Amino acid sequence: MAFKIGLLGLGTVGAGTAQILLDTSGRNPLLKEIIIGRVGVRTLTKTRTPKFPPEIISTDLEAIVTDPNIDIVVELLGGLEPARSLILQAINRGKHVVTANKAVIARHGYEIYEAANRAGVYVLLEASVGGGIPIIKPLKQSLGANRITSIIGIVNGTTNYILTEMTTAGADFSDVLNEAQKLGYAEADPSADIDGWDAADKIAILASLGFGGRIQRESVYCEGIREVSKVDIAYADKLGFVVKLLAIAKGLEGTESDTLQLRVHPTLVPKSHPLANVDEVNNAILVEGDPLGQVMFYGPGAGSGATASAVVSDIMNIVAILKSSNHTQTIDPLLSCTHQHYCKITPIKSIETRFYVRFLTRDVPGVIGHLGTSFGNYQVSLESVVQIGFKEGLAEIVVVTHCVCEGNFRTALEEVRTLEAIKNIPSILRVL
Ligand code: HSE
Repeated sequence: MAFKIGLLGLGTVGAGTAQILLDTSGRNPLLKEIIIGRVGVRTLTKTRTPKFPPEIISTDLEAIVTDPNIDIVVELLGGLEPARSLILQAINRGKHVVTANKAVIARHGYEIYEAANRAGVYVLLEASVGGGIPIIKPLKQSLGANRITSIIGIVNGTTNYILTEMTTAGADFSDVLNEAQKLGYAEADPSADIDGWDAADKIAILASLGFGGRIQRESVYCEGIREVSKVDIAYADKLGFVVKLLAIAKGLEGTESDTLQLRVHPTLVPKSHPLANVDEVNNAILVEGDPLGQVMFYGPGAGSGATASAVVSDIMNIVAILKSSNHTQTIDPLLSCTHQHYCKITPIKSIETRFYVRFLTRDVPGVIGHLGTSFGNYQVSLESVVQIGFKEGLAEIVVVTHCVCEGNFRTALEEVRTLEAIKNIPSILRVL
């Protein structure tokens, strides 16, 4: 029996996927039954590896998703359009879909999955989060018996690389970004990565699976790493922390499990925390559930082979289902998406977290006392206050708070800004 796939996109991940499917020796025998029926690309002028004959490769993407001989469409184009329309067309023609496209699923997942459920087809997306790390199927299946309480991830390799280099080399953000672009670790337009949007797409997908509801993508609070300075990384180090871009989804204690905190921001992570040593382009996702406790998924979060490994595993899952003699049009609830309602997202001002704040102040008696009083006026309890040194004639004071309500903290900061001795507040970071 042979199953034909229509491969849309022959970039890094598309080429990696083709390579696995064309080199099946020593891998699962099911792969021998999968044929690359057609390949869709945006332009035919590029030299590509692997090379496909003209009767297979074309720029007519619509012809591929509507081709009656294609069983599974593998969408590796990225971006919102034409990916969304092509996925919907494929589904409406009764084809199963495998995608690595977190942006399209995070924003249009509801219409894609509603269409898929109507058509009785699968849309699998293991490669959309964490590259080669298995995390989608574990959340859908292996961890399914648990009540998930939190998902905390380093899910963007580019920003993790930049923060790691800033830490080890004591280098500035802009210098490391330039270097990362030269090495191909950061895109020419790096916004999606460094402003946190890519991580926000990914945590929206993980939260939906872990907490069993739809997520409005716009409700994910998102801060990137542009403002992280080497000065703060060095102070964080002295205080026992590393700085990481975390994507966090947390259930709210004492409420229904579908009320969530959902946020992406640079965070001071204690050096003893399991995520603290996830460096360079690696990703890791720490999932906490009841009764399991904590489990961490770690590995290469991007790259041709790693991401293709996840894509091909999804293709194999669909082929295995299609081959089973009792396959009907009833889709497996553990592999599909049946969420009907949206999770409630807690506004950022209502979350509780610790903060790190760096102040530049006049070096006069009573400054630390005034700071403590202003924070105390709004129930912001301080864990540590350290005068680290001097900069341009000003004293540099770093404060770490206890776990406080973000709204109270922000109001206290407004009062602190009015204090005569406070000259500047160069950085505010959350602490895990
Ligand atoms: N741009 C992503 C990252 C890889 O840096 O992690 C694809 O998800």
